[in-house]
Amino acid sequence: MPLKKKIEELKKMREAVQMGGGEKAIEKQMAMGKMTARERILSILDKDSFTEYDLFVQHVARDFDMENKVLHGDGVIIGTGTMDGDPVCIFAQDFTVAGGSLGLMHARKITKIMDHALKMRVPLIGINDSGGARIQEGVNSLAGYGEIFFRNTLSSGVIPQISVILGPCAGGAVYSPALTDFVFVVENISKMFITGPEVIKTVLGEEISMEDLGGARVHSEITGNAHFYAESEAQCFNQIKKLVSMLPRSNDSKPKLQKPKPPKSKYNIEEIVPGDPKQPYDIRDVIKALVDDSDFVEVQELWAQNMVIGFGRINGLPCGFVCNQPLVLAGVLDVDSSDKAARFIRYCDAFNIPIVTLVDLPGYLPGVDQEHAGVIRHGAKVLYAYSEATVPKLTLIIRKAYGGGYIAMGSRHLRADFVFAWPGAEVAVMGPEGAANIIFRKEISSAEDPEAMRKLKVKEYREKFANPYVAAAKGYVDSVIEPSETRKMLIHAIDVAKDKAISGPKKKHGVPPF
Ligand code: HXC
Repeated sequence: MPLKKKIEELKKMREAVQMGGGEKAIEKQMAMGKMTARERILSILDKDSFTEYDLFVQHVARDFDMENKVLHGDGVIIGTGTMDGDPVCIFAQDFTVAGGSLGLMHARKITKIMDHALKMRVPLIGINDSGGARIQEGVNSLAGYGEIFFRNTLSSGVIPQISVILGPCAGGAVYSPALTDFVFVVENISKMFITGPEVIKTVLGEEISMEDLGGARVHSEITGNAHFYAESEAQCFNQIKKLVSMLPRSNDSKPKLQKPKPPKSKYNIEEIVPGDPKQPYDIRDVIKALVDDSDFVEVQELWAQNMVIGFGRINGLPCGFVCNQPLVLAGVLDVDSSDKAARFIRYCDAFNIPIVTLVDLPGYLPGVDQEHAGVIRHGAKVLYAYSEATVPKLTLIIRKAYGGGYIAMGSRHLRADFVFAWPGAEVAVMGPEGAANIIFRKEISSAEDPEAMRKLKVKEYREKFANPYVAAAKGYVDSVIEPSETRKMLIHAIDVAKDKAISGPKKKHGVPPF
């Protein structure tokens, strides 16, 4: 056969395989409001940059009449491409082919692209849309998942790993996304659960919809499994692009610098924080008053909202922000916000991203619920993560920094490199009200007018201890600064600390309070 004909034949074969499960299955996919696997990849990557591999891979199942079935691409598309010019590896499960179920060859395609990503030190993006382990392939499917989990763990802290849930992700399949760095979900489309509604009904006799069990909102607001929530696939893909623009290619790559831009003038740093320490404000306004172009990529925006985490640039360099949110529960540390902060701190540390901590909290949340939910164990994660992190650590105390909260939120004692405080900062063992009630109990109860005495003692305590100068006098705070000086101080501190090099005692690894 002449080469020209062979080329024609190749084109036809490609076209056929690229139709996945065929027109009917594609129509069904679209009727569910979902893009096809190929459309998804092309929407995420730069135009004309996608190169596909293993297009002609076929399954090897021989039971349950599988030998007579052709599964195009074995239900998954893999390849490489670029995002904003930077290379990435990507895979997308194709639900139109046997429900995107994972058999031996399907898993081998995924593990091949995972191996490439780790070897080439580039980010990995995985799009999940699958009925889970391919039932006909038995233990080979389970082996496939195990091989994926192992590689997720091996790549952790080396390359950014992003999971996009764009369909069902059920059973053990959920553990690959859970092992990756960032999970993206989309309203009405994403479904993640270990045991589905059918099993729950059979075992527990309870009826629940897939959406209520493990939909996008559930994982964004309640479980914290998802890091980014979108209302459409298009919005989700924009979020992925934005996040990737902030991340280095790998743990030994240079950060993606951009031309520095000042924050937008509508965020006036002098007017955001109320003088009255009881008045709430949105910490995100302070972040936006500090970062380039007021551009802040918030992570886990809808979960544990008393803690705000995310990425923003300071003078062109991507930084990780870990901030108490006075707008929600006064910004306390509790079980979930501790987990949220600790994991993010470890992420930034793994990828050499400087950490900026903004402090305004009354401490750890008291109460039986929190104690029994393990606030000791979870709270310890924050201490561990800050202490362990060797990237530049800059801390700004805005207002309250009481008790354990003061220590935990990137204090000097956990080796912050620079600690700044605004003049309204209150660094103390506890809030003035609580403190005065305890240490002046006798004076207050024996006074002619106990309430007036209490107020006097609170005032006395606040003036003496609840200010930044006691901590500054000990060198625990390096500089008390005006709000308007903050960005300049951060820029300088990052510049000074950018080649920071420290090492701890030799060990295989620590044992964090996971
Ligand atoms: C083989 C599967 C499949 C699977 C779906 N299909 N899941 N084939 N193995 N796990 C096939 C269907 O037979 C069907 O084929 C096609 O994919 C589309 O599926 P539908 O059921 O028609 O789609 P839909 O109605 O949208 O329902 C989607 C679904 C449902 C909710 C995901 O298919 C479902 O419940 N599947 C089984 C989920 C499950 O229990 N998976 C195993 C989990 S255990 P045809 O030929 O008719 O088009 C697991 C263990 C992993 O994953 C452990 C790792 C540690």
